[in-house]
Parts: sequence; C-alpha cells; structure tokens
Amino acid sequence: MSPLQSVIYKKKKSIKPIWLMRQAGRYLPEFRKIRKKNADFTKLCLNAQKIKEITLQPIKRYDLDAAIIFSDILMVPYGLDQSVKFKKNFGPSLGPISLNQIKEYPKLQFKKNLDSIYKSINLVKNDSLISKKDLIGFVGGPWTLLIYMLNKNSPKKKLKKILSDKPLILDMIKYISVFLEQHIKYQIKSGVDIIQIFDSWAGLVKEKDLEDFIYSPTKKLVKFTKSVNKPCICFPRNIKNYYEYIKIVKPNVISIDYNVNPEKIVKKINIPVQGGMDPKVLLTNKKNLEKVANHYLNIFENHPYIFNLGHGVLPQTDPDMVDYLIKIIKKFNGKSS
Ligand code: CP3
Repeated sequence: MSPLQSVIYKKKKSIKPIWLMRQAGRYLPEFRKIRKKNADFTKLCLNAQKIKEITLQPIKRYDLDAAIIFSDILMVPYGLDQSVKFKKNFGPSLGPISLNQIKEYPKLQFKKNLDSIYKSINLVKNDSLISKKDLIGFVGGPWTLLIYMLNKNSPKKKLKKILSDKPLILDMIKYISVFLEQHIKYQIKSGVDIIQIFDSWAGLVKEKDLEDFIYSPTKKLVKFTKSVNKPCICFPRNIKNYYEYIKIVKPNVISIDYNVNPEKIVKKINIPVQGGMDPKVLLTNKKNLEKVANHYLNIFENHPYIFNLGHGVLPQTDPDMVDYLIKIIKKFNGKSS
C-alpha cells in the first residue's frame, strides 16, 4: 500500500508521507521555462504531454510521496464554456456565465472540453516514476468556484452584492456541483488515487450560511468520491469551525491551513490530518525550517499525519529549501520506523 493510503486507511502513525500543494509551479526553474514558451495558461492546462511533464517535474527532483495532477480548479468553468484567462500579476479573470448556461450545459460536451486533462492523468498514472506513489486529482469546492464564476476574479469588491441573492447562490452551487461530480468521476476513471477538494474561500462564509454553502454541497462530493472507493481530502481554508466541518462533511483527511493551532487540532480530531505549516517558513532559513517542520512532526507524532503546507508553495521559494524540508521529513521517518 502507498504511503498516503496507509495513513488514510490504516491510520499508520510511524510514517509521515509528504507532498506539497503547488509542488509543480513557478518556484521551479524547469516550470518557468515551459511557462515562458506557453503564454496561455489555460491552453497549457489542456496540453496532455505538457501536463504530464509538469506534474512529474517535482517528482524527478524530490523524494515526494505523491504527485498532484497539474491543472487548475478553474478548468471546470472553462469546461462549461466560461472564458477563463490568467493575467500576469493579476490572477484569473473570467467572462460572464448565467445560471441557465450551467444548468443546461451538455455533460458530454463538458467531458469533451476537458478530455485532454483525463488523457494526461492516464499518461502520468502509467509512468514508472509514480508506480509506488499516489496520483492526486482535485476540484475546487462549489463555494470557491462560485466566487470566481460570479465575481469573475478573486473575491475583492462586488462580493456583497452577489451574496445578497441567496436563492441564486443555492441554485448555482447545485448546478456547479453536478459538473464537479462529473469531473471527479472522470479523473478517477482515468487513474487518480485520491481526490482533494480545495475550498480556498471557505473562510468568507458567515456562520448562518455554512450549512447551505459549504457543509451540505461538500458532503455530497465527499460521499460521491467514497462511493467510487477513493478517499477524499478536504481543505476548507480559514473555516472557523474545523470540528463541525469534519463531523458533517466526513472527509477521509482534513487539510489544515496555517492559522489553525495544530496542538488543539490533534487533541480534538480523530481522522488523519494533513498540512498546516506556513509556506512563508520556506522563505526563511534552514535552521528555522527545521524548527518549524519538527514542531509539526512532533505534535502529530502519534496521529496519522500527511506532511504538507497550510497553503501552496510560494513562487519566490528557493527549490533548495523544498529539498531540505523533504530531507527533514525523511530523517524523522527514519528515526521512528
Ligand atoms: O501543483 C499543484 O498544486 C497543482 C496545480 C494547481 C494549480 N492551481 C496550478 C496553478 C492547483 C491544485 C491549483 C488550485 C487552485 N487554483 C486553487 C486552490 C488552491 C489555492 O491556491 O487556494 C485556486 C484558488 C486556484 C485559482 C487560481 N489559479 C489563482 C487564484 C491563480 C493565480 C494566482 C496564483 O496562485 O498563481 C491561478 C493560476 C495558477 N494555477 C498558477 C499555477 C501554477 C500560476 C500560473 C502562472 O504561471 O501564471
């Protein structure tokens, strides 16, 4: 059994596997080289050969325990024919989309639009580099996707107006979820071993709306993933009540952000935990990195734990620091097994 799956299913405590959110990305010179030649990021996310190459870049460099397919949560709106552009130093910028367009979008066409992603999963899965490792697929949480799809970029202004129309939000979440389930289904059919749900903007939801906007729709996606015999990791970034989230949504693993107190979490949570360390720690120095990484490892020593960060690797990270981090984790595993 792979390292991640033995933590997830067997609750193994003696090994702390490691992978990193955004492990394939701009901090790697080999990624920047490809990116330079591919100005259109959406197109790059649809080039099966390039997806494979980028997904495997960090695996070639480091002794990581899992690969995450190189893609983006915004490929689902792209699959629904919403225009998705990534502007330099601005982030994503989306075109208009209506509730009806989502509601009536043909499922077969959606699959066709994203077929190169599924093809790339198949290519990566069959590569000997990850034969003993897991391949992670992912979707955005319905709420986080809705924010991008309605607001057309990161949540800055305009959000208040959007949030005042609750019936519209509920309908959008309902119909987006249909396609998220499709996307999960086809990623699994193509070979991913684990699904992670990124709900990066979960922290924006008010207490009274958590059930409708986060818990209930995410619970359905987790249930679906489990029904096809794959585990689901949930990352509800900045959510106020992780305990309630776990109780209702029932993920196999909870991925925590860096504002969460790991000492409190470890006492209260009985499912495997992932992540936590602030990605900014990788911008400091080796001594500090060793101190903070070991702090997390020691806290979770007697708990099933997958080492990861509290958010993605930052673009300005030195690849040597990532190398050092992985060595720290492997050294800890060597001591305890
Ligand atoms: O290695 C991996 O983790 C897999 C690849 C991956 C990307 N995006 C590639 C990417 C994953 C898992 C994502 C998820 C994603 N995308 C999230 C959830 C996680 C999070 O960061 O909160 C969100 C909110 C998005 C939407 C998105 N995509 C934004 C806001 C941006 C611009 C800002 C940024 O972080 O770069 C992107 C672009 C993006 N997605 C890049 C990469 C490597 C940078 C593209 C570039 O080179 O310009």
